[in-house]
Amino acid sequence: MESPYVLGVGKTRFGPTSKSLQMLAQEAILAALGDAGLGPDDIDAMIVGNFLGGPNEGQLHLNSVIAGLFPGLNIPSWRTEAACASGGVAIHQAVLSLSRYGTVLVVGAERMSDVVGMELTRNIGMAGDAILDQAAGLNFPANYALVAQAHMERYGTTTRDLELVSLKNHANANLNPKAHFFLKKVSQADIDGGQIVASPLRLFDCCPVSDGAAALVLSSKPRGKRCIPILGSAVSSDAISLAQRPTRTSFPAARDAARRAYAQSGLAPADVSLAEVHDCFTIAEIVAVEDVGLAAPGHATDLIRAGETAIDGRIPVNASGGLKAGGHAIGATGVGQLYELVTQLRGEAGERQVPGARVGLAHNVGGVGGTCSVHLLGGL
Ligand code: COA
Repeated sequence: MESPYVLGVGKTRFGPTSKSLQMLAQEAILAALGDAGLGPDDIDAMIVGNFLGGPNEGQLHLNSVIAGLFPGLNIPSWRTEAACASGGVAIHQAVLSLSRYGTVLVVGAERMSDVVGMELTRNIGMAGDAILDQAAGLNFPANYALVAQAHMERYGTTTRDLELVSLKNHANANLNPKAHFFLKKVSQADIDGGQIVASPLRLFDCCPVSDGAAALVLSSKPRGKRCIPILGSAVSSDAISLAQRPTRTSFPAARDAARRAYAQSGLAPADVSLAEVHDCFTIAEIVAVEDVGLAAPGHATDLIRAGETAIDGRIPVNASGGLKAGGHAIGATGVGQLYELVTQLRGEAGERQVPGARVGLAHNVGGVGGTCSVHLLGGL
């Protein structure tokens, strides 16, 4: 099969909003269709990525809810759920579906900001094992705090390294009009004043609670000059709980997905010119950079300390602001990562444009590494 192509992309701003899930999805879909120069009638199938529709909104069966935005358009559609990797897995399913359907719409959508405090933390916690994690009170900030503690103990990673990730991603989000923290300048003093969430993670080590949607139009055939090929698309999985795994300093599912995506594409980490990785907590960016092979285990901090992951660095990571500052509208996040890569690879990212962007990598994680997708886009 030829490479699949991204014909069009659309994304809402991530962040708290009064718009409904349907309105968010519609905004992203219409933008992606317009970008592709297509209409709803050109779509052969639709895949919806969403995580919290059930617990947060009492609304499941979201493929039908979103199909209802286009009355009379009866096409195959379904929803994928893989916690925070719901969007990345939806894209992978769409790529596989192109062997049957010519043009596939992927939309990731989430509303989170209506549910606050412990109720939201508990709902997000459903991505962890019901007995090993949830019943033990091990929520997601706590899970990633364990990852940070293990990385610090094994490799000498410091809280300063976490702060550098946060400062970089907030600076990048400042340049991204679709970011949760667009135009919010974050200083060292802000970081110093952030409360401890789960030690060693503090407020500015955490992603915020975002609403939002993103959409892509994929096709098995190129169309127009602005379409971008998908060179590799892979998903892998692992035991759901850290308690069931031999290591906390790496996610084997991410390593496996990256290995598969590189093998499909014939590319190597040295070919990647920018990456959007799943930094739901600052430590997660450090682990991700190592898992996708951009640094050897324990050495992502060398890149971060040297400024090499900045927009003007050797290998920019999370030019969008990432989840940390761009926002994490869970089911939309993996789709939003491809929105960013396509925008960058087209040279249309404005002030946050990565110079010479040719190959982009997207890394999307569900839970604490139970599911991971990796996509490679562009061309040498
Ligand atoms: N980073 C930076 N600032 C943040 C923030 C974050 N993650 N979360 C909230 N803020 C800011 C808000 O913008 C607000 O600023 P303002 O007073 O200038 O308007 C202030 O902090 C208070 O916001 P609030 O929503 O009351 O914060 P909170 O204490 O209720 O929530 C967290 C903070 C970290 C607990 C919450 O953002 C969170 O749960 N994040 C993780 C979400 C998650 O687990 N996702 C899945 C990952 S696997």
